[in-house]
Amino acid sequence: MKPTVTPFPATRLRRLRQSPALRSLVSQNSLSPSDLIWPIFVMEGTDAETPIASMPGVTRKTVDRAVSAAKEAHALGIPAICIFPYTGMEARTEDCALAWSPENISNQAIRAIKDAVPDIAIMTDIALDPYNINGHDGFVENGEIVNDRTVEALVKMAIAQAEAGADILGPSDMMDGRIAAIRSALESARHQNVTILSYTAKYASSFYGPFRDAVGATAALTGDKKTYQMDPANSDEALRLVARDLSEGADMVMVKPGMPYLDICRRVKDAFGVPTFAYQVSGEYAMLQAAAQNGWLNGDAVMMESLMCFKRAGCDGVLTYFAPAAAKILNG
Ligand code: PBG
Repeated sequence: MKPTVTPFPATRLRRLRQSPALRSLVSQNSLSPSDLIWPIFVMEGTDAETPIASMPGVTRKTVDRAVSAAKEAHALGIPAICIFPYTGMEARTEDCALAWSPENISNQAIRAIKDAVPDIAIMTDIALDPYNINGHDGFVENGEIVNDRTVEALVKMAIAQAEAGADILGPSDMMDGRIAAIRSALESARHQNVTILSYTAKYASSFYGPFRDAVGATAALTGDKKTYQMDPANSDEALRLVARDLSEGADMVMVKPGMPYLDICRRVKDAFGVPTFAYQVSGEYAMLQAAAQNGWLNGDAVMMESLMCFKRAGCDGVLTYFAPAAAKILNG
């Protein structure tokens, strides 16, 4: 669309910016707590939380505390939370069997939250990295992250999460063929209404650093994830991935990281018009929090501005560690 501008002074674009009333009347996008998905980290134990140094304000929570967080989220109007498990080195194995155990901490949390707060949607993460001895999202054979054997494990993981009561499965592994395999297994297991929010355009990003601290993966990870996550130089490839994931049965797609990749969000939304989410990842959160703590930025203001930018870029919602803080401000 080409903007039409009659010459000054007929057009004074500042006219519509002169008061809060006029500005709110013509504002094109809006942000509400219903746009937010809150990622939370769960760990073994009871009634405890441990801070994550590189993510000020974020903690790992025991399941009972995660239930309290889900109650808080629901009361704030946040429609979904996303669960990530913390696993220590001692729980990691080469076969990653804990990933599809109904008793792993993530599946325990899903059941407890579903029971206590049935109206909140529970999202999961599907990838082997929290359980893998080498920190990779897939099995490693002779130094190679193998695709097809990994997909078989991801399917088992997906079914265990669906059985536990998850509403939204989030495959974050970037293996090829995983969406089709998970979708077909869900159909066979009569979980046809479980939704898939695919981490579709997930880049091999250094902005995930603090998250890897949070889930205990920093020490575990050998090498990088560049043979499966996307090259930050690419943009067209994101559209091929979205087309592929939709054709395989994804209900929603995600771009990750968020702020440095808003161009990808816009291209995806324009090209496909499907529910599109961005993940404002740990490193983005850490940057804003660090600057705010130093008094270099107004923390609340940049938080709200950054979240609005996702809406402007075409996103329907955002996964963000700021979810409860932003919802509190939005609720006045
Ligand atoms: C694991 C996973 C990662 C994130 C979400 N799921 C890290 C990675 O791929 O190494 C990152 C989230 C964040 O940085 O906030 N598959």
